[in-house]
Amino acid sequence: MNNHFTRTLVTTALPYANGPVHLGHLAGVYLPADIYVRFKRLQGENIIHIGGSDEHGVPITITADRESISPRDVVDRYHHRNLEAFAKCGISFDHYGRTSSQLHFRTAQEFFREINGKDILVKKKERHFFDPETKRFLSDRYVTGTCPICSNPEANGDQCEQCGTHLSPRELINPRSKLSNRVPELRETLHWYFPLGRFQGELENYVNGHSGDWRTNVLNYTRTWFKQGLTDRAITRDLHWGIPVPAQGDEAKGKVLYVWFDAVLGYISFTREWAEKQGSPDLWRKYWQSPDCRIIHFIGKDNVVFHTIMFPAILLAWNEGRKNDVYSLADNVPASEFMNFEGRKFSKSRNYAVYLGEFLEKFPADTLRYTIAMNYPENKDSDFSWADFQNRTNGELADTLGNFIKRSIDFTNAKFDGEIPYECTEDDWATLGIDWAGSFDKLEQAYGQFHFRDAAALTMQIARSANRFLTDSEPWKMLKTDREAAARTIALSVNLCYTLAVICYPVIPHTANRIYTMLGFQESFDDMVKSGKVRWDMASFPQLHKGHKLLKRSEILFRKIEDGDIAPELEKIERILAGIRRAEDDGTREEMHFKPEISSDDFFKVDLRVATVTGCEKVAKADKLLKLRLKVGSENRQVLAGIAQSYSPEFVIGKNVILVANLAEKKIKGELSQGMVLAVEGNDGRFNLVEVNGSEIDGKIIQ
Ligand code: 2FM
Ligand code: ZN
Repeated sequence: MNNHFTRTLVTTALPYANGPVHLGHLAGVYLPADIYVRFKRLQGENIIHIGGSDEHGVPITITADRESISPRDVVDRYHHRNLEAFAKCGISFDHYGRTSSQLHFRTAQEFFREINGKDILVKKKERHFFDPETKRFLSDRYVTGTCPICSNPEANGDQCEQCGTHLSPRELINPRSKLSNRVPELRETLHWYFPLGRFQGELENYVNGHSGDWRTNVLNYTRTWFKQGLTDRAITRDLHWGIPVPAQGDEAKGKVLYVWFDAVLGYISFTREWAEKQGSPDLWRKYWQSPDCRIIHFIGKDNVVFHTIMFPAILLAWNEGRKNDVYSLADNVPASEFMNFEGRKFSKSRNYAVYLGEFLEKFPADTLRYTIAMNYPENKDSDFSWADFQNRTNGELADTLGNFIKRSIDFTNAKFDGEIPYECTEDDWATLGIDWAGSFDKLEQAYGQFHFRDAAALTMQIARSANRFLTDSEPWKMLKTDREAAARTIALSVNLCYTLAVICYPVIPHTANRIYTMLGFQESFDDMVKSGKVRWDMASFPQLHKGHKLLKRSEILFRKIEDGDIAPELEKIERILAGIRRAEDDGTREEMHFKPEISSDDFFKVDLRVATVTGCEKVAKADKLLKLRLKVGSENRQVLAGIAQSYSPEFVIGKNVILVANLAEKKIKGELSQGMVLAVEGNDGRFNLVEVNGSEIDGKIIQ
């Protein structure tokens, strides 16, 4: 790891411009990135934050089709809405671009041409689903059907929303076109494939080089792909919306670049746009093509492999054989887990979400930023609840931080005519009983290592100490007996307000600005940070001298949230949940008829083991049977399973299934079957294998 970077480039996952961003997006990506960037700006680092809208891909065209408007209308609408919501929330992008921009088209096509020109890409003809009614090839998302894993009847062709499994359309049971609801046909089409396998060695070296500093979830997701072996991935699609494939002749007609190929390159094009805005068009190279720059991609866990495998592979392909214009790979990819909402996954399709723009119409940004920072889903999924939001706003922001600031400023205004009445020394500062060096070390580490929950909690801890100091010192009582002591206390308190403004700035920047104004400064705090006049290290010793004048007017920093304020929100969730429960109940309720009771001794006679499918083929003259080769620890088994109508053989290989390992052998259709694998019969009569997640777990006992 290079620790001598002179610049940092932060990118945030480009949200699809097909809907409003919700609190889950904010928690996982944009707020943590903004906190990091603001902290580094305070430390005087050269850092830029680049983001923007992902305006291509099937999510956009599906929304357009659903609303009978053009994809262009969809992206225009949501690009602006999201940009506005981010601005209101204080997400301080240096540039927020759009993948529909001309410069982005040029960049993405340049990458394709370069890589294709080196003969790295592989052209293949394959059979894809085609809608006979609309006469369109169907991208993965345009196909729906029953999930082979959890039997969700409305799984998407790329992923099942219910169980999270990544799928390909041909794995779906009973596939249907989302455009016409017709059963799709398979038709041949030509596409360009990126041979990820060619770069596996380099990618593994890259990722292993970060095994000490990347998050475990990021390493694990990535290594699972390495273990399975990287394969060719299509980077073109038959779609009418996107960046045209820049290849000669008819074969590229009607084809666009795959949205993920184009989106990750958006980080580069948007940095180029930013550089142009700075009047220095080549400046972007100092970020992307210089070893002095640290690149950090903030993303959610569902985007990991696109950033640790696909994007680096594209850059490696570009770099191959080049001496100049060589791109750097990211130094870190802090992927978050998910934030749930009131104990359930956010779901846009079910409208089970709180959208950022709507939230900010009712509540101030900093109350949200603080609550979300305190629940940052760093290592495990976290939760946003209205009760927690209310408690943190009232108990921590209003009663602790807000109360301290207001009391300090009001007292100075009332009793010392708004002037700092005493020159605080370092010795006075030391008597506050706050371990400044320790606290700042911890804060710096927390911010630097992306532990934003710790950073927010430590900040509130310092606010608590400050509040306690003022309450315990009781300057209002001292005033009559020892005015000098009261002056000292209040001078320390007002200086603590300054300290708090600085240290809370990354998490709650609007509040920092307001405190700074109340402390009598005309300039905006943001501008002072940008110009380097306010710096992080100024927070650890007194900055306001005797005679410094405050604004003479204070304001309430945080209005308390009453039960009545959140009651409509709670009612709204109840309504949505009731609808979801009704939908879930319909169709799943059936009368249960269980087999006769058995003893636990009976049950424990059955030896259930995890087995990995190492091979699979059809059985001659048996429509329903597949012959599976299984690895169970040190043993290999052959098992016949009646799943041929649910799976083609290649989709079964690699799965971890559950084997009844001590079942007597028998011959089926002339073939030996040494056990049985567990499967669930779906409503349509097809079987879904019961799968176990994990790697190298074959042979393990199921208990
Ligand atoms: O998952 C998503 O919302 C994608 N639009 C993220 C893209 S991240 C990057 F590649 F731009
Ligand atoms: Zn599923």
